[in-house]
Amino acid sequence: MVKLPELFDLKSRVAIVTGGAGLLGTQFCITLAEAGARVVVADINAEAAQAVADQLVKGGAEALAVSADVTDPQSVAQMVFATQDAYSRLDILVNSAALDPKFDPQHAKQHTNSFEDYPLEIWNQALEVNLTGVFLCSQAAVKPMLEQGSGVVINICSTYGLAGPDQRIYQREGQSPAYKPVAYSVTKAGVLGLTKYLATYYAGKNIRVNALTPGGVFNDHEDEFVKVYSARTVLGRMAEKDEMNGALLFLASDASTYMTGANLVVDGGWTAW
Ligand SMILES: NC(=O)c1ccc[n+]([C@@H]2O[C@H](COP(=O)([O-])OP(=O)(O)OC[C@H]3O[C@@H](n4cnc5c(N)ncnc54)[C@H](O)[C@@H]3O)[C@@H](O)[C@H]2O)c1
Repeated sequence: MVKLPELFDLKSRVAIVTGGAGLLGTQFCITLAEAGARVVVADINAEAAQAVADQLVKGGAEALAVSADVTDPQSVAQMVFATQDAYSRLDILVNSAALDPKFDPQHAKQHTNSFEDYPLEIWNQALEVNLTGVFLCSQAAVKPMLEQGSGVVINICSTYGLAGPDQRIYQREGQSPAYKPVAYSVTKAGVLGLTKYLATYYAGKNIRVNALTPGGVFNDHEDEFVKVYSARTVLGRMAEKDEMNGALLFLASDASTYMTGANLVVDGGWTAW
């Protein structure tokens, strides 16, 4: 029987995290590196990806930054090529890149479109990054995994792929109406479908595909938003950005060897009532 600490040990494994420079993406990179993996930080924001990789290297890990656009097949192929070129294998793919219109001050202007007026262009952009991006990265990453005879894919979803957003929490008295956009929910629900498809497609191939579904993560949101969001959550608060790390490590490591096609929900109980 494998000893408990070894279950979570990722020494000699190689991981790609798309959107690795994001709020949660960075946490996923740090977690995988701390567990011993060599981490490829892949992001369309090359400078930010380099900063994360530098941070990992400073902490004693092996890491590489790759500028990658998950919507571009050539860029995705180059991401996998660079990984294999550097580390000669690929064990873990974390599909974290997404257009995620959060309700923090940085994204304040992205929530004004009602469903009736929701622009086709934004719908298409979200499909391309959030869903086609997961399709393309998974397609490219499973090739070396099949050759190795092992691999793990983790798709980052959202509670809004499981349940419709409660639009009431986005409204403020005296302000124009705001909405969690339709494309976010639909693409995240699609990623769950893709997760199950890939898990069963690779039956017998030792490639496990699971989803991780976070709830809302605090990121300097305004007090009023934190209050209404928290009231709607069983644990009575938003998540801290490092509260997905244990779940991510569980799915990435041998601690979850009997798990595929599943969705690990870490949402403070949001979807429980
Ligand atoms: N933060 C939350 O509250 C929360 C909650 C539930 C689910 N999620 C999901 O978790 C995942 C990670 O979230 P996050 O907080 O790190 O998001 P984030 O917005 O902070 O980061 C997303 C990253 O993806 C990158 N990106 C965007 N388009 C890209 C493209 N075409 N190619 C490559 N990279 C691209 C961005 O540069 C950014 O670094 C996302 O899938 C998100 O939908 C987040």
